[in-house]
Amino acid sequence: VEVVIVPDAAAGGEIIAEAMADLLRRKPGALLGVATGSTPLPVYRALTAKAAAGDVDVSRARICQLDEYVGLPAGHPESYRSVVLREVVEPLGLDEASFMGPDGSAEDVPAACARYDRELAEAGGVDLQLLGIGTDGHIGFNEPCSSLASRTRIKTLTRQTRADNARFFDGDIDQVPHHVITQGIGTILEARHLVLLATGEAKAEAVAQTVEGPLTAMVPASALQMHPHATVVVDEAAASRLK
Ligand code: F6R
Repeated sequence: VEVVIVPDAAAGGEIIAEAMADLLRRKPGALLGVATGSTPLPVYRALTAKAAAGDVDVSRARICQLDEYVGLPAGHPESYRSVVLREVVEPLGLDEASFMGPDGSAEDVPAACARYDRELAEAGGVDLQLLGIGTDGHIGFNEPCSSLASRTRIKTLTRQTRADNARFFDGDIDQVPHHVITQGIGTILEARHLVLLATGEAKAEAVAQTVEGPLTAMVPASALQMHPHATVVVDEAAASRLK
C-alpha cells in the first residue's frame, strides 16, 4: 500500500481529484467509483473546479456507487443515490444515464445485489474506486468480520456506524437505516486502482491497522494490502498513529 501524507483535507481532495483527472485524460470514459460520507467531499469539489476551469473534460466520465441504504423511500435526500447525484453527478454536469448504483428499494434485495455486481462487470469494471474508512476499519459498509472475498450483498450496520451517521439524519440514530447494500470486499478489490482517503484524528487508529497491521477480516480496509495498486491518502491527524 502506497501512503501519501498531505497537510489537510483540501490537499487530499486536490491530489485525488488530479489522479481522477489524469485518468480521464487518458481514458475519457473511465468508470469512477465514488464513496459518500463527509471525507470525499473535497475530492468532488476539486474535480468540479478542474472541470469548470477546462483542465479536464469529464463529459464522458461514468460514475458508480459503492453502497446504499436499504429501505429509504425513493428520492430521500440522504439515500446515497441522492447524495451522489447532488455532490458528484450534477456538479460535473453529467446526466443520470452516466451513473449506476444498487437499488436500495428493490423488493428482492439479493437479486438487486447480484444485478449490481453483474452491471459493474459488464461496464468493464471500475477504473478508480475512491474509499473512505470507518472508525472501525470498514470500507464500503463491510463491517469487521466481513469476508475478504465477499460480493455485493446486504449487510447490517453496527450501532457504532449508525451513531457515526446519525449526523445526516437530524442527529437521530433511530432514523438511520439498519441495513445497507454494499459492494463486497472481493468486488471492491476488482477495481484497477483503489484510493482511500482518511482525514482527522478519529481515523488514525483504523489507518494504522489498515496499513501496518495484519491482513484481517477484523479490519476490512486491511484488504487493501492484497491489491496491486492501492493508495492511502491521509492528513497529518489521520497519519498520527503510523510508525
Ligand atoms: C460511504 C462508505 C463508508 C464511509 C465511512 C467514512 O459510502 O462507504 O465506508 O466512507 O463510513 O465516512 P465519513 O467519511 O463520513 O467519515
